[in-house]
Amino acid sequence: MSSPVSYELEGNIGVITVDNPPVNALSQPVRQGLLDAVTAAQADGSEALVILCAGRTFIAGADITEFGKPLKSPWLPELLAAIEASEKRVIAAIHGTALGGGFETALSAHYRCAVATAKIGLPEIKLGLLPGAGGTQRTPRLAGVQAALELITSGTPIAAEEGQAIGLIDRIIEGDLREGAIAWARDLAASDAPVRRSSEQPVPEFDPGIFDAWRAELAKRARGQIAPEHIVTCVEVGATTSFAEGMAKERELFMECMDSPQSAGMRHIFFAERTAAKVEGLAKDTPQRTIAKVGIIGGGTMGGGIAMSFANAGFDVTLIEVDDEALKRGLGIIERNYAGSVKRGKLSESDAAGHRARIAGSTDYASLADVDLVVEAVFEDPELKKTIFKKLDDTCKTGAILATNTSYQDVDAIAAVTGRPQDVIGMHFFSPAHIMKLLEVVRGAKTADDVLSTVMGLAKKIGKVPVVSGVCYGFIGNRMLKPYGETAQLMLLEGASPEQIDNAMEAWGMAMGPLRVFDLAGLDVGYKARQALSDAEKGDPKSYRVPDLLVELGRMGQKSGAGFYSYDENRRAIPDPAVDKLIEIAAEDLGVERRTITDEEIVDRLISALVNEGRKILDEGIAQRSSDIDVVYVYGYGFPASRGGPMFYADNKG
Ligand code: 3HC
Ligand code: NAI
Repeated sequence: MSSPVSYELEGNIGVITVDNPPVNALSQPVRQGLLDAVTAAQADGSEALVILCAGRTFIAGADITEFGKPLKSPWLPELLAAIEASEKRVIAAIHGTALGGGFETALSAHYRCAVATAKIGLPEIKLGLLPGAGGTQRTPRLAGVQAALELITSGTPIAAEEGQAIGLIDRIIEGDLREGAIAWARDLAASDAPVRRSSEQPVPEFDPGIFDAWRAELAKRARGQIAPEHIVTCVEVGATTSFAEGMAKERELFMECMDSPQSAGMRHIFFAERTAAKVEGLAKDTPQRTIAKVGIIGGGTMGGGIAMSFANAGFDVTLIEVDDEALKRGLGIIERNYAGSVKRGKLSESDAAGHRARIAGSTDYASLADVDLVVEAVFEDPELKKTIFKKLDDTCKTGAILATNTSYQDVDAIAAVTGRPQDVIGMHFFSPAHIMKLLEVVRGAKTADDVLSTVMGLAKKIGKVPVVSGVCYGFIGNRMLKPYGETAQLMLLEGASPEQIDNAMEAWGMAMGPLRVFDLAGLDVGYKARQALSDAEKGDPKSYRVPDLLVELGRMGQKSGAGFYSYDENRRAIPDPAVDKLIEIAAEDLGVERRTITDEEIVDRLISALVNEGRKILDEGIAQRSSDIDVVYVYGYGFPASRGGPMFYADNKG
């Protein structure tokens, strides 16, 4: 088999090219090829070596598929030590994304150049890891301790120019990267520029208190995760002792992270997210419809956020509301959201203005005549939705995709009122829709393949993680939430308090405990839905008695200042003895004996409730695969990625 790394001499410059599609990951043959090329170059006529990549990107990292398997020589740290030790000057030439071990490879070179569109970063923390090939040691030597901690603990890549500003990139190349890098290498050789090894640079001066300050901050930001704390330790050891000691510590803690269940969970989610994009039975070459103009119906909580998601990605959006007043209110919320992002430094003023300008408002459905996609986000009322879809059928051009953001309703029944059910699909966003990454794509019985394919592609363009769901009440996520919520209600009656349940789940890793979630969403929503049902349809009264009583006392959750908790003016949840009393009375009334419930039991029963429903969803073919359910819960419901999602967690628990 030919090597994915080639080496050729261009005059006095040795050019090493990595060609390992799709992202030039550092698999064993790539590591071996790089080592062979650098070794060979030591004995030839080259005066400088350029390392660059073919295809869409510079090396995007270690090969994650090799993780968890026996390490094969040469190890990445050994390879990078060999590159750095080269007697010939080594220049890394970056395009695309130089990430993780890829950026560490660039750090082991003596000089770094990049095209302006390139990005560099150390995203290992997102896989529950730390940079394991010198990233925690070389970065602070070039950029200082503060900038290094920012880059490594955020995991967020930065633009080449920003990298240049902090000393990680030496030169931005205009025009052709290969030509520019070779020309620069010739200049460096001609001027007898030194072989400049990052490991030999001193760490710029720093405040000795910086490490404890970062530890305190990360303990809050990344509760319960081991990698962030270990990153600080690695940087500290390297900055306060020597490069060699720092490397030894980095290796030790990298292996600890690699062997941790946290990293196994996060690596599972990395691949699960990418697998979710693949739809069974949908050919890879299925055509996609062109989408440029998007209509959104309903400018409430969801419609506004959905409009922003499309506008932020460059789509022209028309937002439809019932009357001028509702339209003004909806557009007003969008404006305040953009202003808030500018204020928090998340968005520049000009970008915000550009995005906002793409959203037009209207109260006339005729303005949807030429849109390519409509997303309906009106009240959760099936009859209203059907009326609207009939109107869309009359109004929209042939080939337009008609999507509903319904949380629960039957997408097939909605499609059936139109003369074009093949164009109807569910696009279930999560609140706040311009922030939450999950998009459940609900495939109706008659949804056309090209419609599904278009929406899956579109999701990626607007920065969402799409997961396909079949049609059922609540689709994947909300359907699983039902038994989860009911189990929480049962445990309240059996003796747990709201704060015990929430604290147990949050300590375990959920972003928010179930009762705090109900208070946030509003208890009146479920109450109203139950009022429309017969007693038999409502199910066991134990599963809803407490929230019904709370609503009847005017306790709707955060919006009314009280629900399972009382809320102060800062919306802080305060345990309320009146709620404890109410639960006791309900338990007695329903004949439930109260007892002590442990935190372990709470976690076990709640997660089991999710997993059991997940199994049914799989058996019924509502979800394509178990890992899709994990993606739904991690990206839509605050399930900790470090536990890999409910199904992964259950599989590992046995
Ligand atoms: N190893 C193995 N496979 C990888 C990979 C990696 N590091 N990165 C991406 N891939 C695979 C994906 O699984 C996907 O495979 P598929 O087509 O079979 O599903 C394919 O490459 C394309 O990936 P994307 O769909 O994500 O492509 P994008 O163009 O959207 O994104 C990217 C490209 C920005 C490079 C993105 O893939 C990414 O962020 N990759 C991970 C980068 C990373 O985390 N690197 C650090 C690894 S850990 C490390 O280096 C440890 C070191 O310090 C020792
Ligand atoms: P909302 O009540 O905040 O907004 C609904 C908007 O639709 C209102 O502004 C209303 O004026 C408008 N509207 C009503 N009839 C209309 C019509 N005929 N034409 C145009 N506009 C009309 O509701 P929300 O929360 O945004 O929910 C909308 C949909 O999204 C529902 O189907 C809901 O189930 C779903 N959803 C809600 C989530 C949430 O967390 N709120 C999450 C995911 C989906």
